[in-house]
Amino acid sequence: MNELLCEIESIGMVPVISLKDAEKAGALAKALSEGGIPCAEVTFRTDACVESIRRMKKACPEMLVGAGTVTMKEQAEEAAKAGAKFMVSPGFNHEVVEYCMGHNIAVIPGCSSPTDVEQAMKYGLHLVKFFPAEAAGGVRMLKSLSGPYSGMKFMPTGGITEANMGEYLELKQVAACGGSFMVPENLVEKGDFITIREMAKKAVHEMLGFELAHIGLNMKNRDEAMLAAGMFESVFGFQKSENDNSIFAGSYIEAMKSPFLGEKGHIAVRTNDAGRALSYFKRRGFSFREESAVYKMDGTLGAVYFREEIGGFAVHLVQK
Ligand code: 3PG
Repeated sequence: MNELLCEIESIGMVPVISLKDAEKAGALAKALSEGGIPCAEVTFRTDACVESIRRMKKACPEMLVGAGTVTMKEQAEEAAKAGAKFMVSPGFNHEVVEYCMGHNIAVIPGCSSPTDVEQAMKYGLHLVKFFPAEAAGGVRMLKSLSGPYSGMKFMPTGGITEANMGEYLELKQVAACGGSFMVPENLVEKGDFITIREMAKKAVHEMLGFELAHIGLNMKNRDEAMLAAGMFESVFGFQKSENDNSIFAGSYIEAMKSPFLGEKGHIAVRTNDAGRALSYFKRRGFSFREESAVYKMDGTLGAVYFREEIGGFAVHLVQK
């Protein structure tokens, strides 16, 4: 379960899918995976569920595929046989939870109240689906639930859209957001997987919220750094401020007191979630200078450099 929790958390989004035609499952899995969301909850709302899971796993073995709307243990059994790695139910379903736990299958039961969360705790679960998220009180309700149950992580689903997803993901107790909005039914029916892939990419970028933080200039020594930062101050009014290694001019320019990483310097890109961004880029084949990683007091990633340079600049991610 903890492994699953880490994996779901690193992806951040779980598309809820109801496929009518299992033939489309392979192409859909590829589109989501290439778009940066290698995860799906395939619901038992259609007869094509089990076959869709099988085809998605075949097309994208690395993808984390689970079954959704699991309300009977037989469904969990069938889905697991087809390759589903986790089971999601809309409500707290004891039969499904007990079956999954007894068969070493990860399970994410639906919870919408303190009573539900306490049931999940009794079973030793650390991740539940907060469903129906918006109708059950949304972000405010989740904040209240997290007070007494700080060890529990939630996957809000139900009424999540690209517009409100960010508010949920800001909460530490939210492992990922689920939703059908990530896979519009009409696009699946038309077989427009290119648009689905591009939508997934856009949603991932929205979730990670990349912004330019600052540009670092490699200067030979403190005097040169002072001169460069001073120029930005006198020309643009960007105020100088010195720290151990560099002199900032405003927040966008950092003149290094000695040559640092990058042939020309470095570029810092801010993100909503450095840990999740790191996983996303690793999946895309980028590598990182692990020795450059800086962690915050709570153990989350604060900053890390890519191994690759872009245009002579070393690039690093920094947590907002
Ligand atoms: C589910 O089964 O998880 C929900 O029906 C998904 O809700 P949504 O369609 O509002 O995203």
